[in-house]
Amino acid sequence: MRKIKLGKTGETIPVLGQGTWGIKRGRNKKYYKNCKDSLIRGIELGMTHIDTAEFYGFGTSERVIGELIKEFDRDDLFITSKIFPIHFGYKAMLKVCEKSLKRLDTNYIDLYLVHFPSFLFSKIRKHMRVMEQLFSEGKIRYIGVSNYSVEQFKLGQENLKKTELITNQLHANILNQKHIHNSLPYYQEEGVVLTAYSPLSHRGYANLKGDTRLKLDKLAETHNASIQQIAIAWLINHENVIAIPKAFQLKHIEENAASAEIELKDIEIKSLYS
Ligand SMILES: NC(=O)c1ccc[n+]([C@@H]2O[C@H](COP(=O)([O-])OP(=O)(O)OC[C@H]3O[C@@H](n4cnc5c(N)ncnc54)[C@H](OP(=O)(O)O)[C@@H]3O)[C@@H](O)[C@H]2O)c1
Repeated sequence: MRKIKLGKTGETIPVLGQGTWGIKRGRNKKYYKNCKDSLIRGIELGMTHIDTAEFYGFGTSERVIGELIKEFDRDDLFITSKIFPIHFGYKAMLKVCEKSLKRLDTNYIDLYLVHFPSFLFSKIRKHMRVMEQLFSEGKIRYIGVSNYSVEQFKLGQENLKKTELITNQLHANILNQKHIHNSLPYYQEEGVVLTAYSPLSHRGYANLKGDTRLKLDKLAETHNASIQQIAIAWLINHENVIAIPKAFQLKHIEENAASAEIELKDIEIKSLYS
């Protein structure tokens, strides 16, 4: 699996990780076994970055990941989780992180994100103070944000004294290109990773029609790949972009991992621009 620099950390991260939004609570053993087996297969194929959030399945996603972490050397995995911005108080935010650590059954989260920005700038300052405390205490290794505008990202960065924001996790895919065109140039210049979420527009493009479908079909034929593989490859063929597709079918997991090897020419990348 190809890796890229993780900002200025000196570390690298696989261009493809695995999403876990959609893991539901209250299901039977077979359901959770399938989730775990899919994630494990992805890890074996190099997708060692697993994305979760306290909010996914009301903690169920973190619990499932907590179980599978035990099957690996913890240091070989890179776990991202997120704090939901309904917790505004300083102590409440610290407590939320403790709960995530407990569910994940680990001593540290590799990357902790503020899931959404607060529209009050003072809250962004406060969130960064809490994140930095968690960083100083060694509970999180890196800090990032999600769904922030470039202005909000800059404000977050200005309010960190000891470390830097290493990513902004953003909605980016073939059908939603605004961050690729508008904010990616800033992140590339700053050496910040853009993590593309919902890289398959959440539903997986099974029913995609129209002009985009035709263009994807053409590239899929050229590269002997599926349209989903081309859609993922298109994202990670951009400098400083990683993606976190979610797949709970082994066939999909294997296809996704293979898409990291697809090299698109500039003209092919541009042919999909809207
Ligand atoms: N920060 C945020 O606010 C935010 C928001 C949304 C998502 N996220 C993160 O991003 C992750 C991914 O986004 P997402 O869950 O919205 O969906 P997605 O990855 O865009 O698409 C998932 C869908 O695509 C299907 N799929 C996956 N690989 C495929 C393949 N090779 N061929 C055909 N179909 C394929 C999956 O089917 P199967 O499951 O049946 O394999 C599933 O139905 C989330 O799980 C979450 O971790 C973050």
